Amino acid sequence: MVPGPPLRIPEGFLIGTASAAHQVEGGLWNDWMRMERDEPGRIKNGDSAAVAIDHFHRYREDLALLAGMGHTAQRFSVEWARVEPEPGHFDLSALRHYAGVVAACRELGMEPVVTLHHFTLPVWLADRGGVLDPQAPRLFARYAAACAEAFGEEVRWWLTLNEPNVLMALGYAEGQWPPHRRSPVLALRAAAGLLRMHAAAATALHQSGAARGRPAMVSIAHHERPFRPVPGSLAARFGAWAPDLLFNRWFLWSCMRGRMLPPAGRGEVVPGLRGSLDYLGLNYYTDERVRFDWRASSRLFVSSDPDPSLPRNSLGWSIDPGGLRRAVVSLSEEFRLPVMVTENGVADEDDELRSGFLVDHLRAVVEAIDDGADVLGYLHWTGFDNFEWLEGYGAKFGLVAVDRATLERHPKPSAEVFAGVCRTGVIPAPDHPGGASARWACLSP
Ligand code: NOJ
Repeated sequence: MVPGPPLRIPEGFLIGTASAAHQVEGGLWNDWMRMERDEPGRIKNGDSAAVAIDHFHRYREDLALLAGMGHTAQRFSVEWARVEPEPGHFDLSALRHYAGVVAACRELGMEPVVTLHHFTLPVWLADRGGVLDPQAPRLFARYAAACAEAFGEEVRWWLTLNEPNVLMALGYAEGQWPPHRRSPVLALRAAAGLLRMHAAAATALHQSGAARGRPAMVSIAHHERPFRPVPGSLAARFGAWAPDLLFNRWFLWSCMRGRMLPPAGRGEVVPGLRGSLDYLGLNYYTDERVRFDWRASSRLFVSSDPDPSLPRNSLGWSIDPGGLRRAVVSLSEEFRLPVMVTENGVADEDDELRSGFLVDHLRAVVEAIDDGADVLGYLHWTGFDNFEWLEGYGAKFGLVAVDRATLERHPKPSAEVFAGVCRTGVIPAPDHPGGASARWACLSP
């Protein structure tokens, strides 16, 4: 990263954090909780999301803590299993709970960004085939409509699905996540199901927004993870092409065309798909350096390793702010939609990397804006250390540490660095002597 002067985030830019119900709420019963019960040992250290960080009960204090640090936006997910515990039975107290979360965000001056599906499913739907169930799009649209009715008045920014490509890869192609159905054919059927679910829910949200004269802005949170062939290998270059397109572009291209593109479809029109994206939610963490590998059939014959020239986070993912800038610019140029960075963050055991990571990645976003991209905001993953799927509580992505014994919250030094940006709109120079937390000492707001 080339050193430079402090940069400014634009007026009205949304800045805050993102989270997901299963990772923070506790007290859930869904397909992931059932996996925990039935297949102990899948999650590292036997960790459980049963309590998570008890955000369900503590959301007011948690949101107040984030708002107190100057955040102007908050992304969270609604848990379908909580809202519709039995098919067709909507739990009004659960809907009221999420209406309360939205209201709390508003009272605290944070724009809510609401995700409807963040990896987990009600068990009743999982039992009917989950996203493969031909009825899943209709059911998802009904649930979306119930949410829109309960708290849509106060919500402008919606995300139907979080990372459908990741669910397709990990739930189906590779099979480590529920529903553990490792099959390339099912992976394509899952992709098709998720695309139809998105289209159906987007239609419901748009209709509900139009009916109340307050247009809903709808997207997915797309996980962009460019596959970069190792230099000098022709096999890697050819090998990376198909998985890269399938993982990084198939869903978005299908949305833009309004059709189910090959290989999951034959170009058939999907009702409601065209025009279903009003902006582009972007989750970006890392690029993958890939090589051809004939043993990696579930990954379409590519395996990846971190670029040796880049630093790595505690999960071994390489860190490259330039990758975020490239992702924002290329998506914005290709799709001509405003981009919202709906996730970006770093697994960092001792909060040694996060301050620098934040400064460098925020600068990358501003540089992308200077390159011509329309960027709505930046939501850091995540506010509080939480349940990181198969990694359990071992991977620490939060600005705020959570004591696992007492659940007490302790903001980390990086939270203060981020707060500085949120409060002043100024991103300090990346190379300030004295380390990240000292960067603030020299800046006047
Ligand atoms: C993206 C996912 O949406 C989120 O659930 C996960 O915790 C982060 N990546 C970090 O792996």
